[in-house]
Amino acid sequence: MSEKEESIFTNPFLRWIDDRFPLSSLIKDHATEYYASKNFNIWYIFGVLSMVVLVIMILTGFFLTMNYKPSAKDAFDSVEYIMRSVEWGWLIRYMHSTGASFFFIVVYLHMFRAMLYGSYKKPRELIWILGMLLYFCLMAEAFFGYLLPWGNMSYWAGQVIVNLFGYIPFIGDTLTEWIRGDYFISDITLNRFFAFHVILLPLAIIGLVVAHILALHHVGSNNPDGIEIKEYKDESGKPIDGVAFHPFHTSKDLVWITVFLIVYFAAVFYAPEMGGLFLEVDNFEPADPLKTPEHIVPSWYFTPYYAILRAVPNAALGAVFLVLAVLLFVFLPWLDRCPVKSIRYRGWQYKLALYIFVISFLALGYLGMQPATGVYVLLARIFTITYFGFFLLMPFYTRYEKTKPVPERVVYKK
Ligand code: HEM
Repeated sequence: MSEKEESIFTNPFLRWIDDRFPLSSLIKDHATEYYASKNFNIWYIFGVLSMVVLVIMILTGFFLTMNYKPSAKDAFDSVEYIMRSVEWGWLIRYMHSTGASFFFIVVYLHMFRAMLYGSYKKPRELIWILGMLLYFCLMAEAFFGYLLPWGNMSYWAGQVIVNLFGYIPFIGDTLTEWIRGDYFISDITLNRFFAFHVILLPLAIIGLVVAHILALHHVGSNNPDGIEIKEYKDESGKPIDGVAFHPFHTSKDLVWITVFLIVYFAAVFYAPEMGGLFLEVDNFEPADPLKTPEHIVPSWYFTPYYAILRAVPNAALGAVFLVLAVLLFVFLPWLDRCPVKSIRYRGWQYKLALYIFVISFLALGYLGMQPATGVYVLLARIFTITYFGFFLLMPFYTRYEKTKPVPERVVYKK
């Protein structure tokens, strides 16, 4: 038996399994003999936290489904029933609704880490693309989920988003009708959105997470120095600057998972509505096709894109800009021409551009929640330009960046 095939277990039952299933080699390949850089910092926790939130969402979603009714007549009342009459129903529902916002918080921070350390660059382009597919699925998952309580904002935000498909030339009207399954958002729409939300998208997300991790373990993790640790190995073939993922990274991850859960549960118990950001006031009223809320606003994690949509004077063109704003991330590995990965050794051009990008994204997020009038629109236009400038000018400003010399081995920074 080769070293790789050797069982790590002494327990006879687990050895019996090992003879019939590659359990030991899976544990070795992905945990005890997967070497990741020693100098991971706090930015490296958000991938693991995304997985923690995914598990929370699947478990709480499963229990919600036991009492939720996907019909226009019963949906709103069934959510009220879960909140008031089902034992622990309020906790399960608040864990799920708060979890949606925390999912986006950790995923945005996870994506930002990749932008800090150039984790999307060769050879990790596919990890990035799979991540983007995950992001698209998460957006769809959140959008479908938002319609399910059949509150007034669910209804009208759903209306606005589905209508965006109407701007596609020639097929737009037919397409929106096909998506809704009706001439307006109705019971039929709610039923199919429920099917997407509980079956198809969760399956796609789980499959994509597995592919994302397999691709990561194939090429190896990046690190805050942006150095390929595989290039410096000891006599036994292990990277000198790497440590086994388990137990060294897992033990550290557990600490951060605990901190995260404290913050998350503080929100679940003390601020599940988060001042209208996590659960909106209008959604405590049942859907009413005759009563449009004063300001239709999507959930906070979509507001940067919503601000872009409304910043463009022509609605159809606004929809194109919205799609582009999301899609442009996919092309980062090719737009960025700088050979240096980590921000620690990059020139002022990228640092400045990244600052401007972050400010633009946050500002657009805020502006997307405000009414589309006067100074708000003007500011949204300015930040839309800087947002697109970050991506579209990237091939130019990154080519002429004056970078610092990259060290050969990883550096420890406190
Ligand atoms: C459900 C959502 C997601 C989950 C569960 C997830 C999970 C993970 C995990 C566990 C890691 C390894 C640990 C780490 O480096 O943080 C990782 C790495 C990575 N993820 Fe994700 N991810 C998700 C979404 C995304 C998205 C939306 C992107 C970007 C578009 C992305 C891009 C990356 C990249 C580039 C790496 C490699 C980072 C490096 O080695 O420096 N991921 N992901």
